Amino acid sequence: VKAAVFASGTGSNFQAIIETKDLTCDVVLLVCDKPEAGAVEKAARFGIPSIVFDPKDYPSKADYEQFLIQKLQEANVTWIFLAGYMRIVGPALLQAFANRIINIHPSLLPEFPGKDAIGQAYHAGASSTGVTVHYVDEGIDTGPIIAQEPLEIFPTDSEETLKKRIQKIEHELYPQVINKLLQSK
Ligand code: GRF
Repeated sequence: VKAAVFASGTGSNFQAIIETKDLTCDVVLLVCDKPEAGAVEKAARFGIPSIVFDPKDYPSKADYEQFLIQKLQEANVTWIFLAGYMRIVGPALLQAFANRIINIHPSLLPEFPGKDAIGQAYHAGASSTGVTVHYVDEGIDTGPIIAQEPLEIFPTDSEETLKKRIQKIEHELYPQVINKLLQSK
């Protein structure tokens, strides 16, 4: 099975996935909408081809997604793992990869969807939060949930320490969920 990771930022989840020894698929592409993203540099370092595109170069989301679909199909990609990809996936990609696009989100959805979920939970004074892996649909962090891991927020936590603990969970949970999902396919 060949897969692509979509990222817009640092790419620590991307790295955790590609560094997983027993991963049951080949990550053959990184797709990124930000040339300066750390994920692009990580892909180069690990020898994974990347497609870097600027949405502004296309008239619409449908147009750049059509471009991506063509590239993904050329590479025989059948699964897409979103890892900090900061764009809403449109109908073109959703149809081309129906039930084969998943995302990781740093909260226990449906709580704290959208941007800065860790900050949202922290500043709300929540006593717990967590990590969710879910199928992607046309909404923001709304698709069917595949796996969740809760995490306590300690009174002594800063936003930084909370973020570190969440990332540690993400980096373990995402590869595990990917392996489980692809085993059953
Ligand atoms: C992660 O917290 C992920 O859950 C969220 O965006 C962040 C990406 O971080 N969707 P990184 O680029 O993988 O380090």
